[in-house]
Amino acid sequence: MEDERRRCFVLRPENSDRTCGSLYLALMRYRLNDRFLKACRRQPADRTPVWFMRQAGRYMPEYRAIRERYGFLEMVKTPELAAEITLQPIRAFAVDAAIIYADILPPLEGMGLCLSYAKGEGPVIHNPLRAPADIAALAQPDPRETVGYTLEAIRLVRRELGATLPLIGFSGAPFTLASYAIEGGGSREYRRTKQLMHRQPDAWHALMAKLARLVSDYALAQLAAGADAIQLFDSWAGALAPDDYAEFVLPYVQQIVAAIKRHEPTTQDQAPGAGGPGAPVIYFGTDMSGMLGMLRHTGADVVGLDWRIALDDAWAQLGPGVAVQGNLDPHTLFGPWEAIERRAAAILDRAAGRPGHIFNLGHGILTETPVEHVARLADFVHEYSSH
Ligand code: CP3
Repeated sequence: MEDERRRCFVLRPENSDRTCGSLYLALMRYRLNDRFLKACRRQPADRTPVWFMRQAGRYMPEYRAIRERYGFLEMVKTPELAAEITLQPIRAFAVDAAIIYADILPPLEGMGLCLSYAKGEGPVIHNPLRAPADIAALAQPDPRETVGYTLEAIRLVRRELGATLPLIGFSGAPFTLASYAIEGGGSREYRRTKQLMHRQPDAWHALMAKLARLVSDYALAQLAAGADAIQLFDSWAGALAPDDYAEFVLPYVQQIVAAIKRHEPTTQDQAPGAGGPGAPVIYFGTDMSGMLGMLRHTGADVVGLDWRIALDDAWAQLGPGVAVQGNLDPHTLFGPWEAIERRAAAILDRAAGRPGHIFNLGHGILTETPVEHVARLADFVHEYSSH
């Protein structure tokens, strides 16, 4: 095991015997690429920055080579592996940010929830929350103790990248985390989640308060470990009616964003963009086109858009004080290159060169996506936005 781990581990900063991968990174990225951080702050950048949600994953052969030998949680919980996987898309594509390889659910283990990933079926929580007493019994863990492996992976990636490329940390947002904790896995209708919200609002608010605290602590720990920005994944919050979102979810997202914004970088934070107080926060959800006006009130610097709305319509609803990230349908990448180019150009045309657009997909990259299309898309975004 130890030997195998070493073979695929190119990050041995204490070791002089660096592999070609590391050397390539060092040569490629000799100075700070701050396009992403500039766009988060709505400052003009030389090109539109681009990165892809789930940019590390099974569509990449080098990921599958590691995945064959380890379980998913084992990969997430082994800092050297997580760091190596984080860097795979950085070597393969001209993306403008790295995102730490982790998942939104492991932080729930420290609260007392039992998590596993069934092959091909996604996450399972074996002791889902079914009664107010289950919520009262949840621990309020210190993420530095319970998800230290991800913090260590962030430190390793930071060390490897130096001050050259920003690193995005992330967390699930309270509603999306609660939906897994209550349903016990993925869900179509979120029936139990919505039942708890409406039948036992006190228990719901108690759960959201605990999760908001966990997410805030975790985000701050990631920033202290060297992440430059935080993306909050509220992937399933679009299942709610806008009034329910406003009453049962928004206040907790606001609390988290405010906590992150209070973060004062210390000299130990080696982050290239951590100059000013308050690291950028990206808030991402799907199916939220009916509540974009409200998302401005999250306090997030950037709102991530899915593909169900035209980028300029969404931006008009959000207002000019927010940056936007998105929003190509990930399925587009299965088409011929000409079709991908047409849709990507249309998104860039809708952004019209306004400061504050980060190009991304409207949701994560899908497993069978052709790698060459991903590479070509990153190059195209830079080329098309350079004039
Ligand atoms: O973006 C990145 O590259 C960072 C890594 C990342 C993963 N999960 C790795 C992962 C991120 C940001 C996530 C977030 C995540 N995880 C979300 C929110 C984003 C979204 O997609 O809406 C959610 C809902 C989860 C929960 C989760 N984890 C599911 C539903 C699944 C199974 C689905 C699948 O694609 O297999 C996972 C597993 C998971 N998380 C994988 C990866 C690379 C696949 C694991 C494998 O290699 O088998």
